[in-house]
Amino acid sequence: MTERAGRLPLPSRAFRNHQLTPFYDELSALTHSHKALPMNSGAEAVETALKVARKWGYEVKGVPDGQAEIIVASENFHGRTVAIVGFSTDPQSRGGFGPFAPGFRTVPFGDADALEAAIGPNTVAFLVEPIQGEAGVIIPPAGYLKRVRELCTAHNVILILDEIQTGLGRTGKLLAEEHEGIEADLTLVGKALSGGFYPVSAVLSNSEVMSVLHPGEHGSTFGGNPLACAVARAALKVLVEEDMVENAARVGARLQADLDSIDAPRVKQVRGRGLMIAVELHADAGGARTVCEALQARGLLAKETHDHTIRIAPPLILTDSQAAWIAEQFAAVLPG
Ligand SMILES: Cc1ncc(COP(=O)(O)O)c(C=O)c1O
Repeated sequence: MTERAGRLPLPSRAFRNHQLTPFYDELSALTHSHKALPMNSGAEAVETALKVARKWGYEVKGVPDGQAEIIVASENFHGRTVAIVGFSTDPQSRGGFGPFAPGFRTVPFGDADALEAAIGPNTVAFLVEPIQGEAGVIIPPAGYLKRVRELCTAHNVILILDEIQTGLGRTGKLLAEEHEGIEADLTLVGKALSGGFYPVSAVLSNSEVMSVLHPGEHGSTFGGNPLACAVARAALKVLVEEDMVENAARVGARLQADLDSIDAPRVKQVRGRGLMIAVELHADAGGARTVCEALQARGLLAKETHDHTIRIAPPLILTDSQAAWIAEQFAAVLPG
């Protein structure tokens, strides 16, 4: 990052910079994608996928102009732009920000039958998180994503997996879709794509869906800039070289087991995959916020989601002794 910062900062996106091509190559090879489109924030990657899906719907699927419908899951979190919060079911995310864009329909998360019932002739895409992060690390029933994949294929609907939180090692697999052996048509990555150093996100396409975008139809001043590409390339390199994905699986399982063994009646459930873990408290057990504040006083940052869930998403380089230390801090504050 520091090496690259001393060089040409930002050519126009109309020109290819010499970091961009290797970034495309390396990201596509690692994720088995045919195409990749770099943006900056996660929300921009989501917006990009929505645009691509609608355009594909009109140009390839033959949906009448202006009629494209995208299905989303209840309790979703995909970012903070107006289109995205418009299809949120969380009053805190959407309240006061309307009117919202039409063309979205919501089905319960984890319910493949509901998805099947909601798909109509104008449905172009289903957008879903493999594990809902902000909702409190909600893991869908086993087989859900597999069935979702089958339904999308059968009905010619694009499956968009938002892996901005789950992707790039967090759940102990490179992409969370691997837990069910499926491949999305569009996969969204962000956050860890730069190792947290710089805003970089990307839309990955495992089919020809992205080909509906032509030069001039979509863009971003900073998307794919040389510094972003250099930082992302370095982050992907260390992710592989330092076995961070395997580390997340192994140390994550250990941390989850350690947390689960804490004797605290306030705890309703410990759940997670890899290093994406949640400790859910009983509704009458006092809020998660006070637990998070007590943890912070002990030097551990864990953020509550909603009122009763504490989410733990430590760095993928977490060691066994650090995992043990985290569990010790929870053991100290939870019984109180
Ligand atoms: C699943 C998911 N999608 C999208 C986003 C939005 O990403 P950003 O904050 O970079 O716009 C987030 C952020 O938390 C997320 O967890």
